Amino acid sequence: MLDEREEYAIGRVFTPVEWAMWLIDRFKVYEAWRCGARVFDPTCGRGAFFTALMMIARKRNERAGDEDLGRLTGIEINPGDRLEFLHSFKLNFGIDFPEDNFVTGNFLDYRGERKFDIAIGNPPWANFTDLPEDFREKSKRHYIKYGLVVNRKDVLLGGSRTDISSLIIQKCMINHVGPQGCGYFYVPLSLFFNGNANRNFRPRAGQNSVFAVDEIIDFKGAAVFNGVSTRYGAVALRSGKQQPQFVPLLKPSGNRSIYCRVSVDGDAWSMSRNTDGESAKAQVRVRSSQKPRQGMNTGGLNKAFILERVTDTTDNLLEKEIFINGFGEEVEISTNYVFPLMGSHLFGGQPAKRRRYILCLHHREGQALDEQRIHELYGVRDYLENHRAEMEGRKGVLMRARMSKGRYWSLIGVGPYSFTRYKVAWESLGRRTFKAVVLEGCWQGNQAMHAYIPSESRDDAERICEELNRNVPAFLKSFGMEGTCNWAQPGRIKSMLVQKHQSA
Ligand SMILES: C[S@@+](CC[C@H](N)C(=O)[O-])C[C@H]1O[C@@H](n2cnc3c(N)ncnc32)[C@H](O)[C@@H]1O
Repeated sequence: MLDEREEYAIGRVFTPVEWAMWLIDRFKVYEAWRCGARVFDPTCGRGAFFTALMMIARKRNERAGDEDLGRLTGIEINPGDRLEFLHSFKLNFGIDFPEDNFVTGNFLDYRGERKFDIAIGNPPWANFTDLPEDFREKSKRHYIKYGLVVNRKDVLLGGSRTDISSLIIQKCMINHVGPQGCGYFYVPLSLFFNGNANRNFRPRAGQNSVFAVDEIIDFKGAAVFNGVSTRYGAVALRSGKQQPQFVPLLKPSGNRSIYCRVSVDGDAWSMSRNTDGESAKAQVRVRSSQKPRQGMNTGGLNKAFILERVTDTTDNLLEKEIFINGFGEEVEISTNYVFPLMGSHLFGGQPAKRRRYILCLHHREGQALDEQRIHELYGVRDYLENHRAEMEGRKGVLMRARMSKGRYWSLIGVGPYSFTRYKVAWESLGRRTFKAVVLEGCWQGNQAMHAYIPSESRDDAERICEELNRNVPAFLKSFGMEGTCNWAQPGRIKSMLVQKHQSA
């Protein structure tokens, strides 16, 4: 099962041995192992968890022999790790780790039929879109096979924030852990508390899924993995058990903190002080066309599409203006398709030195302008020609589809909703508080940093804004994801909206 490729850099953050020991102690894995349990690490890196088991044996003055080691198995995609592990294991413990039990290869292709009693480890954490391209291609069919996305299109588009750790755990629990077996993993907590991407991974309350979650330990504030900003924790899973509606959410000290309320339909789990508390979910009424949206997306080329105004004398743009782009170039262009960009000053923060705008060469219905219209715009044709190579080089399935008619100036996230008279907007990324405001005119959000609900009437916008500000803060707090990139993303807010029938 060796992969043709030599090295892959997928989630290479190794668990410090003391924290591998902590997880083993916390769930009594050592005792189970010594009593005959078979232990499996599907993505074992340099074998931190096997080393930790041996360290615990040494600490307790107990001797683990060949028979015990024969019940340990690990898989790792990078061949170098195996040699390093086997060598250091022998050096540290004076005994050989059984070579056949440390397999080099892609776990997703692993067909071993032996069932284990306990799976343990720290699977790689990475969004599908951030995986190496060839690995991503090979993984697609596994996301479908293990039920994490419904079809290939979902993997490419909506499901692209699905985390690879969910796939590793799902396959591990389905194929390699026996009935009544357990899984103990370090995981990003987004698997449970974030919007849609990982919804098919989450077990549903009252149902028998692949596994049930017994408890989650939230490492908020603890430094297990240095330099990792993702919110993470440890999770205890059990196969063959119905998922209870409430799961204890503990601190690493073991103190009970609160509970997770498990959803019945795969929606993100929320937090609850007790096991009978009402969910913080209230409702905000909108029309069907008023979906929450992210800001416009330049496909990674903000430097060309986001512009700063050089002379800032009036609020309104003149017919043509001089801007500075992210490459530091000055350019004078028509302002017909230049729109003000939201910034923190609109939400109570400090204003930036210069006002920022986005060049969005799209019609108000959403489609990109054609060549002829571009020619009519002062300075725009030349500006695009100067940056043609960078623009055409943008990657991503959606981006490439948008540019397919030669309109290489296209952006993503543009539609009639981008140009409604009002927007109820908020900062959606990395914040700890929530504040929506009503903006008039064609303010545009900056990708995932801002989100908004479009509206054509001020009264409607103000009502939505008031309802959001009244209900959303408690709702968001119930997920405990303050400061993360998923704080108030459209998908999360969408689950609070109910469609009303009268027109706004
Ligand atoms: C977060 S590290 C943890 C390693 C080890 N379990 C530990 O805790 O120190 C994840 C490991 O998974 C490996 N990996 C990633 N994808 C894999 C795959 N498909 N099959 C096997 N190993 C994989 C990475 O190379 C990396 O060593």
